Amino acid sequence: MFKNFRSVEKCAYGRGSFDKLGEIIDVKRTKDAPNMVFLVDDYFKGKELEKRIPLQKGDMIEFIYAGGEEPKTSQIDELRDRIQATLGTPAGLVGIGGGSLMDITKATSLMLTNEGSSTKYQGLNLIQKSGVYHVGVPTISGTGAEVSMTAVLTGPEKKLGLKCDWTVFDQIVLDPELTESVPRNHWFYTGMDCYIHCIESMTGHLKNTFSEAYGYKSLDLCRDIFLGENSGQTPENDEKLMVASYMGGLSLTYSEVGVCHALSYGLSYVFGTRHGIANCICFNQLEEYYPEGVTEFKEMVKYHKIDIPVNLSNDWTDDEIERMIDTTLNLHHMWNHALGTDWKNIITREKVRELYMRM
Ligand SMILES: [Fe+2]
Repeated sequence: MFKNFRSVEKCAYGRGSFDKLGEIIDVKRTKDAPNMVFLVDDYFKGKELEKRIPLQKGDMIEFIYAGGEEPKTSQIDELRDRIQATLGTPAGLVGIGGGSLMDITKATSLMLTNEGSSTKYQGLNLIQKSGVYHVGVPTISGTGAEVSMTAVLTGPEKKLGLKCDWTVFDQIVLDPELTESVPRNHWFYTGMDCYIHCIESMTGHLKNTFSEAYGYKSLDLCRDIFLGENSGQTPENDEKLMVASYMGGLSLTYSEVGVCHALSYGLSYVFGTRHGIANCICFNQLEEYYPEGVTEFKEMVKYHKIDIPVNLSNDWTDDEIERMIDTTLNLHHMWNHALGTDWKNIITREKVRELYMRM
């Protein structure tokens, strides 16, 4: 498949690189647009990191709660309106946080220059104009959101990304030190997002040598981190997972996610389940499609004594299940990659229902 994708323009990596953020962004401040907007996970409010944010006079800082549901189109529209009312068009946006903050920053950058509601732009290449300068500073590793060309949003009708060349960050700052305080369960679930990206990217019809090379390296790192001799949440593994996440994301640029992500989007859309854990709930039941990957995943779960929720479907109503089926069957690109162009003959509504009922 022909693709001509844009990469992150600049990438700073290494311990302590966060302290260079001021220097990096200041050159983007202009006379007409001197101010930056910092979008920060509210987990960091009052913490040491807050004091290190290179705020200048007139800059705007928004602390965003990201512990509940995933980013919504309405949330982006409101944030855009608030920024425009305060600063007009800012010099840039800096997102500091996990996958949700990365997606919120990418989407807001685009919505500051594209008129109307973000619901209009959920899909591929629907955005008309480039966004404002935007920087991603991930504080948890695994989602690949720092490198992807998608800003995933849940709207009134669907969970689907704003996907185009301009979504991609102009700059990312990868400082493994920032991920040190991630709670263990989140560390595991989000790390598994990376692992699953690689398995799905490399098991399907769109993979090529480019996606495999990044995928294999990312998987090697994941195996070290989650099953190796020095497995666990250590400073060395924080460095490895940050690179694994980036490479897992790059692997996907020439490939696609597959069955697990397609099903997990349904779960997140209907119940608001967060992406990492939703993937773990789904992947746990997908031996049929990814036998080796799921076996290894279960070893990692056991080794780290993590609880993956099961028997959830006992409490689901028919209506909820139908909505999940609608959501997942809409993700043609994922099924197409996972199962081939005749996927509609393989993945019927009944088959999807059966898969969800295993969870
Ligand atoms: Fe993912």
